[in-house]
Amino acid sequence: MHSTKTSVASLFERLLDPASRPNPYPIYEQMLEIPVAQLDENYFLVSTYHEILFLLHDPSVGKDQRKSKIPVEGLRDVAKQWILFLDPPEHDRLRRLVMHQFTPERITGMQGRVADTVTQLLNAQRDQKQFDLVDAFSYPLPVTVICELLGVPREDETRFHAWADMLTYGLDPALAMDPGITKAFEEISQYMSQLIAERRMHPRDDLATGLALGNDPAGRMDDETLISTMILLLLAGHETTVNLITNSMLTLLRHPQELQKLRDHPERVHLVIEEVLRYDPPVQFATRFALTDMTLHGVTIPQGSGLRLMFAAGDRDPRCFAHPNEFDPDRPDNRHFGFGNGVHYCVGAPLARIEVQVALTELSRRLIQPRLVVDPPPYRANAVLRGPQHLPIAFDRME
Ligand code: HEM
Repeated sequence: MHSTKTSVASLFERLLDPASRPNPYPIYEQMLEIPVAQLDENYFLVSTYHEILFLLHDPSVGKDQRKSKIPVEGLRDVAKQWILFLDPPEHDRLRRLVMHQFTPERITGMQGRVADTVTQLLNAQRDQKQFDLVDAFSYPLPVTVICELLGVPREDETRFHAWADMLTYGLDPALAMDPGITKAFEEISQYMSQLIAERRMHPRDDLATGLALGNDPAGRMDDETLISTMILLLLAGHETTVNLITNSMLTLLRHPQELQKLRDHPERVHLVIEEVLRYDPPVQFATRFALTDMTLHGVTIPQGSGLRLMFAAGDRDPRCFAHPNEFDPDRPDNRHFGFGNGVHYCVGAPLARIEVQVALTELSRRLIQPRLVVDPPPYRANAVLRGPQHLPIAFDRME
């Protein structure tokens, strides 16, 4: 038992080491040999598909760390009302109000704006022979789209890009109390508060107006929760979408036949995206807390313990996915954890899918003879929201 504990703990430590960022998958493969194991006095690690799925649906497992025995460090006031960190029933009440604003019409209505933005970003690189996909494309696209969805006027988008950059770094607990990040939270909160006031006076057909008017039959949010939710929507959809676009292009450039197939059959884009969400997911693992004592796979987990649910390991569990280490967009029944599962399933999944569909279709169509300049590319340090910091791509010409 003792050796199991230390070996899984050392695997997790290796996973957190930035040196593992380019290819953490051999570590996940080793973790899969031990479905559930204790990491340290507070945390347990769960790596296999069925165990993760079970916990995501178990009402005695929560996300609110204040109910755990682990002290909350660095969580800012503004994040305390995030549905991402709340449990039912409060979670469900607020989530319903958000979901009512994510109407299918509003989300599919974004398609045109997404397509225009993709075209503009690519046209800006038209005369180049090489560009950094992250800086020139993957990074700016999601902020522009979320600003449009929320109803942030275009002239304010540049400020949003700066806040999104700053606040995304603030998600890293090591930086959570950085004064620059505190300032960015204050500024964006103030901005959102003005936006809400403005929309109450002059309603429009946008998400900010929908939330601000508060005339949903399911109830209304107080202003503090409203501001906090709008900031969550900006942040939750930012780095994740950046990484899905970048991870997809990296994977396709490493699998040129798949890239060619996508060029020839753009309707395959859905299959490609779902497979990247399994094979190289932007969210590698998530955290939960045991609300009661529990036993899982023969391991006793005391109430209040933390659980690291290793999505990226479960997505390569050979018990659920044939030849799990192969990138195979044609695999049947690809029920990955890329957007999570259960009550916290990603609110923005339909929007993210639209953005990445348009992005990949256009990138694969317009870039002639694209190729990687460095492999592996440099990665950002974050182990949870994992993705390349830069992805230089060379090409012969752009259509
Ligand atoms: C939750 C992934 C884009 C908003 C989640 C979760 C995952 C995820 C894995 C569940 C976390 C957990 O169970 O602990 C992704 C990926 C995206 C993406 C891979 C892009 C490719 C977006 C976008 C938005 C968004 C565009 C908003 C516009 C949210 C919210 C939650 C969430 C609000 C919390 C839901 C809850 O706790 O009930 N996302 N997401 N996401 N996502 Fe996304």
